Amino acid sequence: MSVCEFRPGLEGIPAAQSGISFVNGQQGILEYRGIRIEELAEKSNFLETAYLLIWGELPTQQELEEFEHEVRHHRRIKYRIRDMMKSFPESGHPMDALQASAAALGLFYSKRDLENPVYVRDAVVRLLATVPTMIAAFQLMRNGNDPVRPHDGLDYSANFLYMLNEREPDPLAARIFDVCLILHAEHTMNASTFSARVTASTLTDPYAVVASAVGTLGGPLHGGANEEVITMLEEIGSVENVRPYLEDCMQRKAKIMGFGHRVYKVKDPRATILQKLAEQLFEKFGYDKYYDIAVELEHAVAEKLGGKGIYPNVDFYSGLVYRKMGIPTDLFTPVFAIARVAGWLAHWKEQLVQNRIYRPTQVYNGHHDVSYTPVHLRQ
Ligand code: SDX
Repeated sequence: MSVCEFRPGLEGIPAAQSGISFVNGQQGILEYRGIRIEELAEKSNFLETAYLLIWGELPTQQELEEFEHEVRHHRRIKYRIRDMMKSFPESGHPMDALQASAAALGLFYSKRDLENPVYVRDAVVRLLATVPTMIAAFQLMRNGNDPVRPHDGLDYSANFLYMLNEREPDPLAARIFDVCLILHAEHTMNASTFSARVTASTLTDPYAVVASAVGTLGGPLHGGANEEVITMLEEIGSVENVRPYLEDCMQRKAKIMGFGHRVYKVKDPRATILQKLAEQLFEKFGYDKYYDIAVELEHAVAEKLGGKGIYPNVDFYSGLVYRKMGIPTDLFTPVFAIARVAGWLAHWKEQLVQNRIYRPTQVYNGHHDVSYTPVHLRQ
């Protein structure tokens, strides 16, 4: 085997063969199983999209109804998971609570049976169904309230907003939230998906796969950027302050949150859709001054950094949408995770088909033949 050049961040190095999604970063194209994201956002719903990603084809009416039924009836979490979450510190980040809870689910289903399609389907259903419940439960419990039971009469997204806000959501808000989940469901070999595939390749259980991916998604260079964007917009504070703020960031060589992407060198197509969704929400529920700041920042960054291919990514406008729905800022990344569970599980399943454990190499740049120094001689 030839010795490859080291590429920081594995830039440009294929880590898998995959038929799940496709990105053309020069033209701003994203497809799930060959279907453009714009079309799915307009015509599909999240559970149908999850089915498409995980099983490779759009479901028939009957398959979809069965899948929705199964997910709907697995939404409740075990009282032991709830009690464990109750003991988490209120000040802890909800991503950490989610990571711990997803891993803890594995304690209840410890008999691994990866080659059994029934085991695989049950795990898919259980994870899709319970991740939103765990997030909503943590949110209520950290505020001293009891979690709300899932509402069997509501669909996936409406039920999450119901469990979070303790009231049935406006139908437009619920539909927009569902579209957000479609947009965030999958995105080729991003960091958390890579993490999921590495974990999957050891043939561990799917709960560990999702837990490791959640841990990876939380960082500010990845899914955690949606939270940082709102903090940044608040810090900028006014449209007039956008350009001075940007100048200052550029001087300090600080990254502008919600901008830039390893693959996209144009505006992320998901950001374009999210921006439109934000506008629809503002039309119905009132204007948000941070939107004007965001639009001005997008213009200013395009002028100054567009030449380097720095444009808004998926995390730039999503926070404004979630904020308008009353979702707390530190739940933005967990909401991203609700959606991405679908992509992670699709990659888990795909990895198992022709599995080989991930075991890359390294370029060693340390010492050799160093002699051991007894502790009393060390300085
Ligand atoms: C997600 O990979 C995926 O698909 C992820 C994702 C998904 O759906 O899974 O799309 C979700 O993670 C979106 C990205 C969220 N992160 C942020 O918004 C944080 C801010 N963005 C960056 O830190 C950065 O753009 C990354 C992390 C997204 C990409 O990092 P890369 O590919 O390693 O790029 P880099 O940091 O090496 O930057 C390359 C150049 C540098 O300039 P030069 O040193 O070459 O002159 O572009 C500049 C960077 O300084 N640059 C930025 C910038 N992003 C890149 N400059 C200012 N602000 C930015 N945001």
